[in-house]
Amino acid sequence: MNDFVSDIQAIRERARRHLEEGAVTPSYGADKDVVIRPLNEALATELVCTPRYKRHYFTARGLTSAGVAAEFLEHANEEQVHAIRSRSASSNSGESQTSHPIP
Ligand SMILES: [Fe+2]
Repeated sequence: MNDFVSDIQAIRERARRHLEEGAVTPSYGADKDVVIRPLNEALATELVCTPRYKRHYFTARGLTSAGVAAEFLEHANEEQVHAIRSRSASSNSGESQTSHPIP
């Protein structure tokens, strides 16, 4: 019975360690920091572009503003999707959650 309890503790400890390491396996050969940096920079760019396009959407004025505003809204929504994809790529690389994408 004690062997079983210690096995459970070992399994829990190993599971916690794997959670902290993310999806990176011991055989992953790339430098994680080198991989994560451009992903974080891409994420930061996408996060900035989303409100920038939305600002243009809300402030578009003139005879053709409806079409122009719609185009800006479409770009804003696309940038938001790009940001989500960038964040997902970072998460899959084992990067921890952060609200400050660029160190
Ligand atoms: Fe984008």
